[in-house]
Amino acid sequence: MNQTILAPQVLLAEVTHRCPLQCPYCSNPTELIKKQTEISTEAWQRVFAEAASLGVLQVSISGGEPAARRDLTNLIKAARDADLYVNLITSGIGFTQQRLTEIIEAGCDHIQLSIQDVDPDGAELISNSSGSLEKKLKFARWVTDASVPLTLNAVMHRLNLDRLPETIDLAIALGARRLEIANVQYHGWAELNKSVLMPTREQSDATNQIVDQARQEHQGRLLIDYVPVDHYAEYPKACMNGWGRVALIVAPDGSVLPCHNATNLKHLNFTNVNDASLENIWYESEAFNAYRGDSWMPDVCKSCDRKDIDFGGCRCQALAILGDPAAADPVCSRAHPQNLIQPEHAESTLIHTKEIKYRSNA
Ligand code: FES
Repeated sequence: MNQTILAPQVLLAEVTHRCPLQCPYCSNPTELIKKQTEISTEAWQRVFAEAASLGVLQVSISGGEPAARRDLTNLIKAARDADLYVNLITSGIGFTQQRLTEIIEAGCDHIQLSIQDVDPDGAELISNSSGSLEKKLKFARWVTDASVPLTLNAVMHRLNLDRLPETIDLAIALGARRLEIANVQYHGWAELNKSVLMPTREQSDATNQIVDQARQEHQGRLLIDYVPVDHYAEYPKACMNGWGRVALIVAPDGSVLPCHNATNLKHLNFTNVNDASLENIWYESEAFNAYRGDSWMPDVCKSCDRKDIDFGGCRCQALAILGDPAAADPVCSRAHPQNLIQPEHAESTLIHTKEIKYRSNA
């Protein structure tokens, strides 16, 4: 074992890509993994046990919509039996109160509920599903009635950012303990909707202020995590907290990935949980070692005093915009003073929602 690599702390278990919603900002790959190739309940049981022995403390069970798996209660029980803290990331659609009770009894410690908009029409436009907001509000109340800690995940973009204050109010009203305000990350399917979803600079600046004020106002009551708009930032974000540093992802077919979109990096091979142990994959695989440390970095990053803050930024963004996954993150103003990211259409006020591209369900 390579002692210089720290053990992972978080496992993101993407148990399915199936989802009843069709959000245009979905960051799952454009080509979804089909139900027939999803790994079995038993394989997930083994994954959770291996993750716990490797040092993982928390599993986030996500998708797609995890409730699309009939064995969700068994998966949650298996994760809890492995002594992992179990977080469920869900759209809340497809649950009855009875099913929610079952997963809580099976050991679900925490629930993250996504909301598309506080406006019912806006929610319907984004999810491409009627009545989705109402269903989500009902689900949120079941969760808090059961005294399970709730996080609200609000993915923000040009079409809903102006309702951010109401989104914060909703989190308070629902009794959420945490609110994640995350601007769209333009990976996977979301890349196809960039011109519709990209906020204006004015919206981005206003959001920064609203978040600052809300953090002060609700301190001690609501924890607010915030992912600003990448394209207006001065420096890159620490994507995944660094490649192969803290977290690993197991995709629905059992491929083990350092990040959500890593399969776009076609020069890397991603080992499957059916072919090697998680320990072997984490410490020894070519894919996890590809962008660890700084030996892969261009000189401008290697000598930068921010390299221990952003760990080189996002490899998928470097590939998408610069065609080179080992290039300095395109956001970085030190590496790219000429501002390589052009927020196309960002200053225009005219948006045609007919341009939204919905994905078909897996
Ligand atoms: Fe892959 Fe950022 S999404 S490294």
